[in-house]
Amino acid sequence: MAQSSAQTGAATTAGPLLAAENLNTGYGDTQVLWDISLEVQRHEVVAIVGANGAGKSTLLAALSGLIPAWSGLIRLNGKSITNKRPERIVAAGLSHVPQGRRLFAALSVEENLKLGAYTRRAGSAQAIREDLDRVYQLLPKLRERRTQLAGSMSGGEQQMCAIGRGLMARPDLLLVDELSLGLAPMVVDDILGAVDTIHRESGLSFLLVEQDVQIALERADRGYVIESGRIVATGTGRELLTSDRVRAAYLGE
Ligand SMILES: Nc1ncnc2c1ncn2[C@@H]1O[C@H](COP(=O)(O)OP(=O)(O)OP(=O)(O)O)[C@@H](O)[C@H]1O
Ligand SMILES: [Mg+2]
Repeated sequence: MAQSSAQTGAATTAGPLLAAENLNTGYGDTQVLWDISLEVQRHEVVAIVGANGAGKSTLLAALSGLIPAWSGLIRLNGKSITNKRPERIVAAGLSHVPQGRRLFAALSVEENLKLGAYTRRAGSAQAIREDLDRVYQLLPKLRERRTQLAGSMSGGEQQMCAIGRGLMARPDLLLVDELSLGLAPMVVDDILGAVDTIHRESGLSFLLVEQDVQIALERADRGYVIESGRIVATGTGRELLTSDRVRAAYLGE
């Protein structure tokens, strides 16, 4: 995919692509995230790692407008997206591949991909066709499977399809929640290879959420460690991987 901020028409500013400042949120009366501040620069791959229940998916839900921010600020391309509707946030350039993939099992791969384009402003059939072709170029296995029902595909194929659907919105930033969950190591390698290709060829930024700390930090430019809803460490992927805190808490060393 070509440089996407030009495609989406989003303002390109000198600041970070995504910035969250002092974000607080939760469910009902229960606060889950506490004063979360983080940034993703253009063309960066950033990882968020942490244990079960740390608040990783909640953070992505807040960034993509699926749950409201109680306080704090979220900016994309310099503009506030705080508490905007999810479809407006997608249109502004942020696309979310949810944990568990959430494909429409009874629809084909191609139908699922097309649904990813639904918020697009220039949604002409021709533009959608071109985007489908681009997604098929980046993820050739999806082309082979385009008429197969999503529900009949393997977990790895479904994850590819979910990523492809996210790309159909022509995002500047793709949030991917638990890319590796439930997949065999070889399948994970395959999908990560696809992510590398997409990153290299499109310059797209990624925010990867992972329980598998090693997988995420190995390929991230930078990472954040989240514990009980708070960011407790940040640094380059390598710094975090070799830090005592991460080694002791997540790598069993
Ligand atoms: N829809 C919801 N309603 C109420 N509480 C929720 C909801 N979703 C998550 N929580 C709670 O918020 C906390 C953080 O959950 P979250 O799913 O964000 O963690 P996570 O880091 O993504 O965990 P995992 O690695 O298991 O996916 C947990 O205590 C969880 O029980
Ligand atoms: Mg989660």
